[in-house]
Amino acid sequence: MTDTSTDPRDDILGRARVRDNDELAAYYEDLASHETGALWTVANDIEPWEPTPKSAVVIWRHKKLREQIFRSLELVKPEDAGRRVVFLRNPKRKDVSAACGWLFSGIQIMRPGEMASAHNHAASAQRFIMEGKNAFTVVEGHRLTLDARDFVITPNGTWHEHGVREDGEVSFWQDALDIPLTNALEANFYEVHPENFQGSNLPWNASPATYGTPGMLPAREKWGAFYSPLMKYPWDKTYEGLQNFASVSDGDPFDGIILKYVNPNTGGDPMATMGNAMQMLRPAEHTKAHRHTGNVIYQVARGKGYSVIGGVRYDWEEKDIFCVPAWTWHEHCNLADNDDACLWQVNDFPVMEKLKFYREQAYPENGGNQEITATA
Ligand SMILES: [Fe+2]
Ligand SMILES: [Fe+2]
Repeated sequence: MTDTSTDPRDDILGRARVRDNDELAAYYEDLASHETGALWTVANDIEPWEPTPKSAVVIWRHKKLREQIFRSLELVKPEDAGRRVVFLRNPKRKDVSAACGWLFSGIQIMRPGEMASAHNHAASAQRFIMEGKNAFTVVEGHRLTLDARDFVITPNGTWHEHGVREDGEVSFWQDALDIPLTNALEANFYEVHPENFQGSNLPWNASPATYGTPGMLPAREKWGAFYSPLMKYPWDKTYEGLQNFASVSDGDPFDGIILKYVNPNTGGDPMATMGNAMQMLRPAEHTKAHRHTGNVIYQVARGKGYSVIGGVRYDWEEKDIFCVPAWTWHEHCNLADNDDACLWQVNDFPVMEKLKFYREQAYPENGGNQEITATA
Protein backbone atom coordinates (compact mmCIF):
# COMPACT_ATOMS: atom_id res chain seq x y z
CA MET A 1 0.00 0.00 0.00
CA THR A 2 1.15 3.52 -0.71
CA ASP A 3 0.92 6.43 1.67
CA THR A 4 -2.72 7.42 2.08
CA SER A 5 -2.08 10.69 3.90
CA THR A 6 -3.25 13.94 2.31
CA ASP A 7 -1.98 17.46 2.89
CA PRO A 8 -4.78 19.12 4.91
CA ARG A 9 -4.86 21.92 2.31
CA ASP A 10 -5.64 19.37 -0.38
CA ASP A 11 -8.43 17.63 1.51
CA ILE A 12 -11.09 19.75 -0.15
CA LEU A 13 -13.42 19.58 -3.10
CA GLY A 14 -11.44 20.51 -6.22
CA ARG A 15 -8.19 18.78 -5.19
CA ALA A 16 -7.22 15.14 -5.58
CA ARG A 17 -8.04 13.30 -2.37
CA VAL A 18 -8.58 9.69 -3.44
CA ARG A 19 -7.48 7.31 -0.68
CA ASP A 20 -5.50 4.32 -1.88
CA ASN A 21 -6.82 0.79 -1.60
CA ASP A 22 -5.79 -2.58 -3.00
CA GLU A 23 -8.14 -2.40 -5.96
CA LEU A 24 -6.80 1.02 -6.96
CA ALA A 25 -3.22 -0.16 -6.47
CA ALA A 26 -3.84 -2.97 -8.95
CA TYR A 27 -5.46 -0.48 -11.33
CA TYR A 28 -2.42 1.85 -11.12
CA GLU A 29 -0.13 -1.06 -11.95
CA ASP A 30 -2.21 -1.93 -14.99
CA LEU A 31 -2.21 1.71 -16.12
CA ALA A 32 1.57 1.86 -15.74
CA SER A 33 1.97 -1.18 -17.96
CA HIS A 34 0.34 0.85 -20.76
CA GLU A 35 2.55 3.95 -20.11
CA THR A 36 -0.39 5.73 -18.54
CA GLY A 37 -1.32 6.87 -15.07
CA ALA A 38 -4.19 8.23 -12.99
CA LEU A 39 -3.90 12.01 -12.84
CA TRP A 40 -5.28 12.15 -9.30
CA THR A 41 -2.19 10.32 -8.02
CA VAL A 42 0.11 13.13 -9.16
CA ALA A 43 -2.18 16.15 -9.61
CA ASN A 44 -1.43 17.84 -6.29
CA ASP A 45 2.32 17.52 -6.90
CA ILE A 46 2.35 18.79 -10.46
CA GLU A 47 -0.13 21.56 -9.71
CA PRO A 48 1.15 23.09 -6.47
CA TRP A 49 -0.84 25.89 -4.85
CA GLU A 50 2.02 28.25 -5.54
CA PRO A 51 5.52 28.05 -7.09
CA THR A 52 7.88 25.65 -5.34
CA PRO A 53 11.38 26.90 -6.22
CA LYS A 54 13.94 24.22 -6.98
CA SER A 55 16.99 26.37 -6.19
CA ALA A 56 18.75 27.01 -2.88
CA VAL A 57 19.55 30.54 -1.79
CA VAL A 58 23.31 30.89 -2.26
CA ILE A 59 25.80 33.69 -1.65
CA TRP A 60 29.14 33.47 -3.45
CA ARG A 61 31.45 35.73 -1.44
CA HIS A 62 34.15 37.30 -3.56
CA LYS A 63 36.82 37.26 -0.85
CA LYS A 64 36.54 33.47 -0.73
CA LEU A 65 36.32 32.99 -4.51
CA ARG A 66 38.92 35.47 -5.72
CA GLU A 67 41.93 33.22 -5.29
CA GLN A 68 40.17 30.35 -7.07
CA ILE A 69 39.29 32.59 -10.00
CA PHE A 70 42.88 33.77 -10.38
CA ARG A 71 44.16 30.17 -10.15
CA SER A 72 42.39 29.38 -13.42
CA LEU A 73 44.70 31.94 -15.12
CA GLU A 74 47.64 29.65 -14.45
CA LEU A 75 45.90 26.35 -15.10
CA VAL A 76 44.19 26.71 -18.48
CA LYS A 77 44.46 28.77 -21.63
CA PRO A 78 41.33 30.29 -23.18
CA GLU A 79 42.08 28.55 -26.47
CA ASP A 80 41.86 25.19 -24.70
CA ALA A 81 39.01 25.97 -22.31
CA GLY A 82 36.89 27.75 -24.92
CA ARG A 83 35.94 30.14 -22.16
CA ARG A 84 37.94 30.31 -18.91
CA VAL A 85 34.99 30.41 -16.54
CA VAL A 86 34.47 29.37 -12.94
CA PHE A 87 30.76 28.77 -12.93
CA LEU A 88 28.40 29.32 -10.03
CA ARG A 89 26.71 26.07 -9.16
CA ASN A 90 23.53 25.99 -7.16
CA PRO A 91 23.69 22.89 -4.92
CA LYS A 92 20.10 22.05 -5.81
CA ARG A 93 20.53 22.64 -9.56
CA LYS A 94 23.64 20.59 -10.32
CA ASP A 95 21.65 18.54 -12.84
CA VAL A 96 21.23 21.55 -15.12
CA SER A 97 24.37 23.55 -14.13
CA ALA A 98 22.22 26.48 -13.06
CA ALA A 99 23.15 29.21 -10.61
CA CYS A 100 19.49 29.85 -9.88
CA GLY A 101 16.29 28.71 -11.54
CA TRP A 102 16.99 28.39 -15.26
CA LEU A 103 19.88 30.87 -15.25
CA PHE A 104 23.52 29.94 -15.70
CA SER A 105 26.20 32.23 -14.33
CA GLY A 106 29.97 32.20 -13.98
CA ILE A 107 33.05 34.35 -13.58
CA GLN A 108 35.39 34.63 -16.54
CA ILE A 109 38.93 35.96 -16.23
CA MET A 110 41.38 36.98 -18.97
CA ARG A 111 44.81 38.54 -19.29
CA PRO A 112 45.76 41.41 -21.62
CA GLY A 113 46.24 40.01 -25.12
CA GLU A 114 44.07 36.93 -24.51
CA MET A 115 41.05 36.24 -26.68
CA ALA A 116 38.28 33.65 -26.65
CA SER A 117 37.34 32.73 -30.20
CA ALA A 118 34.08 33.72 -31.86
CA HIS A 119 31.02 31.54 -31.49
CA ASN A 120 27.29 31.81 -31.26
CA HIS A 121 24.57 30.00 -29.37
CA ALA A 122 20.82 29.99 -29.04
CA ALA A 123 21.12 30.99 -25.40
CA SER A 124 21.34 34.73 -24.65
CA ALA A 125 24.39 35.98 -22.79
CA GLN A 126 25.63 39.05 -21.01
CA ARG A 127 28.54 40.26 -18.94
CA PHE A 128 28.86 42.57 -15.94
CA ILE A 129 32.49 43.60 -15.53
CA MET A 130 33.78 43.12 -11.99
CA GLU A 131 37.35 44.36 -12.32
CA GLY A 132 39.82 45.36 -15.02
CA LYS A 133 40.44 47.70 -17.91
CA ASN A 134 39.95 47.49 -21.67
CA ALA A 135 38.36 44.10 -21.74
CA PHE A 136 36.36 43.80 -24.92
CA THR A 137 33.48 42.03 -26.58
CA VAL A 138 32.72 41.90 -30.28
CA VAL A 139 29.01 41.34 -31.02
CA GLU A 140 28.10 40.93 -34.70
CA GLY A 141 31.08 43.08 -35.61
CA HIS A 142 30.36 45.73 -32.94
CA ARG A 143 33.58 46.17 -30.95
CA LEU A 144 33.05 47.29 -27.37
CA THR A 145 35.63 48.09 -24.70
CA LEU A 146 34.64 47.27 -21.13
CA ASP A 147 35.78 48.57 -17.77
CA ALA A 148 34.66 47.84 -14.21
CA ARG A 149 30.85 47.78 -13.72
CA ASP A 150 30.08 48.17 -17.41
CA PHE A 151 27.32 45.91 -18.67
CA VAL A 152 27.26 44.34 -22.15
CA ILE A 153 24.77 42.10 -23.94
CA THR A 154 25.27 39.19 -26.33
CA PRO A 155 21.82 38.44 -27.75
CA ASN A 156 20.93 34.91 -28.74
CA GLY A 157 22.18 33.85 -32.14
CA THR A 158 24.76 36.63 -32.47
CA TRP A 159 28.43 35.96 -33.25
CA HIS A 160 30.54 37.10 -30.35
CA GLU A 161 34.02 36.86 -28.96
CA HIS A 162 35.79 38.53 -26.09
CA GLY A 163 39.12 39.15 -24.50
CA VAL A 164 41.31 41.88 -23.09
CA ARG A 165 43.13 44.32 -25.35
CA GLU A 166 46.93 44.49 -25.18
CA ASP A 167 46.57 47.92 -23.56
CA GLY A 168 44.24 46.54 -20.87
CA GLU A 169 44.58 44.91 -17.45
CA VAL A 170 43.66 41.49 -16.13
CA SER A 171 39.87 41.59 -16.22
CA PHE A 172 37.11 39.41 -14.90
CA TRP A 173 33.39 39.61 -15.22
CA GLN A 174 30.20 37.81 -14.35
CA ASP A 175 28.68 36.00 -17.31
CA ALA A 176 24.98 35.18 -17.20
CA LEU A 177 23.23 33.03 -19.78
CA ASP A 178 19.90 31.30 -20.04
CA ILE A 179 21.53 28.00 -21.02
CA PRO A 180 19.43 25.90 -18.59
CA LEU A 181 16.22 27.45 -19.93
CA THR A 182 17.26 27.00 -23.55
CA ASN A 183 18.15 23.37 -22.83
CA ALA A 184 14.90 22.79 -20.91
CA LEU A 185 13.05 24.04 -23.96
CA GLU A 186 15.26 21.79 -26.13
CA ALA A 187 16.19 24.71 -28.34
CA ASN A 188 19.94 25.11 -27.90
CA PHE A 189 22.42 25.38 -30.77
CA TYR A 190 26.13 26.19 -30.72
CA GLU A 191 28.43 27.17 -33.57
CA VAL A 192 32.11 27.95 -33.79
CA HIS A 193 32.99 30.79 -36.18
CA PRO A 194 34.53 29.38 -39.39
CA GLU A 195 37.35 31.93 -39.23
CA ASN A 196 37.69 31.81 -35.42
CA PHE A 197 37.44 35.59 -35.09
CA GLN A 198 35.12 38.18 -36.59
CA GLY A 199 36.62 40.77 -38.82
CA SER A 200 35.29 44.26 -38.23
CA ASN A 201 35.84 47.69 -39.72
CA LEU A 202 33.45 49.38 -37.31
CA PRO A 203 35.05 51.89 -34.96
CA TRP A 204 35.40 50.82 -31.33
CA ASN A 205 32.27 51.60 -29.26
CA ALA A 206 30.19 52.60 -32.27
CA SER A 207 27.06 51.12 -30.62
CA PRO A 208 27.04 53.33 -27.48
CA ALA A 209 28.25 56.33 -29.52
CA THR A 210 25.29 55.91 -31.87
CA TYR A 211 22.55 54.74 -29.52
CA GLY A 212 23.70 55.82 -26.04
CA THR A 213 22.38 59.40 -25.95
CA PRO A 214 19.52 59.38 -23.40
CA GLY A 215 16.14 59.96 -25.01
CA MET A 216 17.52 60.29 -28.54
CA LEU A 217 18.01 58.00 -31.53
CA PRO A 218 19.74 58.55 -34.84
CA ALA A 219 17.16 60.13 -37.15
CA ARG A 220 17.96 58.16 -40.28
CA GLU A 221 19.45 54.89 -39.17
CA LYS A 222 17.25 51.80 -39.25
CA TRP A 223 17.93 48.93 -36.88
CA GLY A 224 16.30 45.69 -37.97
CA ALA A 225 17.36 43.26 -35.24
CA PHE A 226 15.08 42.10 -32.40
CA TYR A 227 17.69 42.98 -29.78
CA SER A 228 18.94 46.29 -28.55
CA PRO A 229 21.24 48.33 -30.81
CA LEU A 230 22.74 49.66 -27.59
CA MET A 231 24.93 46.79 -26.45
CA LYS A 232 27.11 48.43 -23.83
CA TYR A 233 25.79 50.31 -20.80
CA PRO A 234 28.69 52.12 -19.14
CA TRP A 235 28.80 52.41 -15.38
CA ASP A 236 29.33 56.17 -15.20
CA LYS A 237 26.05 56.86 -17.00
CA THR A 238 24.22 54.20 -14.99
CA TYR A 239 25.40 55.61 -11.67
CA GLU A 240 24.68 59.18 -12.70
CA GLY A 241 21.18 58.09 -13.72
CA LEU A 242 20.56 56.49 -10.32
CA GLN A 243 21.69 59.61 -8.51
CA ASN A 244 19.54 61.84 -10.70
CA PHE A 245 16.52 59.60 -10.12
CA ALA A 246 17.17 59.54 -6.36
CA SER A 247 17.19 63.34 -6.25
CA VAL A 248 13.55 63.45 -7.35
CA SER A 249 12.06 60.15 -6.19
CA ASP A 250 11.26 58.33 -2.96
CA GLY A 251 12.05 55.11 -4.78
CA ASP A 252 10.34 51.78 -4.84
CA PRO A 253 9.38 50.27 -1.45
CA PHE A 254 10.94 46.91 -2.39
CA ASP A 255 13.94 47.96 -4.47
CA GLY A 256 14.86 51.54 -3.60
CA ILE A 257 16.05 53.49 -6.62
CA ILE A 258 15.98 51.02 -9.48
CA LEU A 259 16.60 51.46 -13.21
CA LYS A 260 16.18 48.78 -15.85
CA TYR A 261 18.59 48.41 -18.74
CA VAL A 262 16.46 48.79 -21.87
CA ASN A 263 16.51 48.67 -25.63
CA PRO A 264 16.30 52.38 -26.58
CA ASN A 265 14.31 51.48 -29.71
CA THR A 266 11.51 49.78 -27.82
CA GLY A 267 11.81 50.68 -24.14
CA GLY A 268 11.67 46.93 -23.50
CA ASP A 269 14.34 44.52 -22.36
CA PRO A 270 17.56 44.56 -24.42
CA MET A 271 17.29 40.82 -25.07
CA ALA A 272 14.44 38.35 -25.41
CA THR A 273 14.80 36.16 -22.36
CA MET A 274 16.80 37.87 -19.62
CA GLY A 275 16.29 41.23 -17.95
CA ASN A 276 18.69 43.42 -16.02
CA ALA A 277 18.56 46.29 -13.60
CA MET A 278 20.79 48.34 -11.34
CA GLN A 279 19.38 49.48 -8.04
CA MET A 280 20.67 51.92 -5.47
CA LEU A 281 19.96 51.70 -1.78
CA ARG A 282 20.42 55.09 -0.20
CA PRO A 283 22.36 55.45 3.09
CA ALA A 284 20.81 53.17 5.74
CA GLU A 285 17.87 52.32 3.45
CA HIS A 286 16.05 49.12 4.36
CA THR A 287 13.44 48.04 1.83
CA LYS A 288 10.19 46.21 2.48
CA ALA A 289 10.01 42.51 1.66
CA HIS A 290 8.24 41.06 -1.33
CA ARG A 291 8.32 37.97 -3.51
CA HIS A 292 7.61 37.33 -7.15
CA THR A 293 7.83 34.71 -9.83
CA GLY A 294 11.10 34.67 -11.74
CA ASN A 295 14.64 34.05 -10.52
CA VAL A 296 17.13 36.79 -9.78
CA ILE A 297 20.91 36.78 -9.42
CA TYR A 298 22.42 39.88 -7.83
CA GLN A 299 25.95 41.21 -7.86
CA VAL A 300 27.00 43.88 -5.39
CA ALA A 301 28.35 46.68 -7.57
CA ARG A 302 29.03 49.06 -4.68
CA GLY A 303 28.79 49.22 -0.92
CA LYS A 304 28.01 46.99 2.00
CA GLY A 305 24.79 45.64 3.40
CA TYR A 306 22.62 42.60 3.73
CA SER A 307 19.58 40.98 2.23
CA VAL A 308 17.05 38.90 4.11
CA ILE A 309 16.03 36.03 1.85
CA GLY A 310 13.52 33.49 3.09
CA GLY A 311 14.04 34.75 6.66
CA VAL A 312 17.84 34.32 6.57
CA ARG A 313 20.24 37.27 6.68
CA TYR A 314 23.00 37.28 4.04
CA ASP A 315 25.62 39.99 4.56
CA TRP A 316 27.27 41.20 1.37
CA GLU A 317 29.95 43.52 0.09
CA GLU A 318 31.32 44.58 -3.26
CA LYS A 319 31.60 41.83 -5.91
CA ASP A 320 29.61 39.31 -3.84
CA ILE A 321 26.98 37.46 -5.85
CA PHE A 322 23.78 36.00 -4.42
CA CYS A 323 20.54 34.63 -5.74
CA VAL A 324 16.87 34.88 -4.90
CA PRO A 325 14.89 31.87 -6.13
CA ALA A 326 11.37 32.32 -7.46
CA TRP A 327 8.59 33.16 -5.02
CA THR A 328 11.01 33.65 -2.09
CA TRP A 329 10.58 36.61 0.28
CA HIS A 330 13.42 39.10 0.06
CA GLU A 331 14.38 42.57 1.24
CA HIS A 332 17.61 44.58 1.09
CA CYS A 333 19.43 46.81 3.55
CA ASN A 334 22.31 49.24 3.07
CA LEU A 335 24.48 49.14 6.20
CA ALA A 336 26.31 52.41 5.50
CA ASP A 337 24.94 55.62 7.04
CA ASN A 338 26.84 57.87 4.67
CA ASP A 339 27.17 56.03 1.36
CA ASP A 340 24.92 54.32 -1.12
CA ALA A 341 24.99 50.63 -2.09
CA CYS A 342 24.27 49.36 -5.60
CA LEU A 343 23.03 45.95 -6.68
CA TRP A 344 23.19 44.81 -10.29
CA GLN A 345 20.79 42.06 -11.23
CA VAL A 346 20.03 39.57 -13.97
CA ASN A 347 16.62 37.96 -14.00
CA ASP A 348 14.28 35.91 -16.14
CA PHE A 349 11.41 38.40 -15.89
CA PRO A 350 11.11 38.83 -19.70
CA VAL A 351 10.16 35.15 -19.91
CA MET A 352 7.75 35.47 -16.99
CA GLU A 353 6.15 38.52 -18.56
CA LYS A 354 5.90 37.17 -22.10
CA LEU A 355 4.32 33.96 -20.84
CA LYS A 356 2.04 35.98 -18.50
CA PHE A 357 3.45 34.23 -15.43
CA TYR A 358 4.70 37.30 -13.60
CA ARG A 359 3.19 37.75 -10.12
CA GLU A 360 4.30 39.77 -7.16
CA GLN A 361 3.25 39.92 -3.53
CA ALA A 362 4.15 42.27 -0.68
CA TYR A 363 5.06 40.70 2.66
CA PRO A 364 1.83 41.02 4.59
CA GLU A 365 3.01 40.78 8.21
CA ASN A 366 5.31 42.46 10.70
CA GLY A 367 5.11 45.89 9.09
CA GLY A 368 6.36 44.48 5.78
CA ASN A 369 9.69 43.07 6.96
CA GLN A 370 10.61 39.46 7.66
CA GLU A 371 11.64 38.14 11.06
CA ILE A 372 15.31 37.11 10.77
CA THR A 373 15.55 33.47 11.79
CA ALA A 374 19.23 32.85 10.95
CA THR A 375 22.37 34.49 9.56
CA ALA A 376 24.32 32.86 6.73
FE1 LIG B 1 29.09 32.86 -25.77
FE1 LIG C 1 12.41 41.54 -5.91
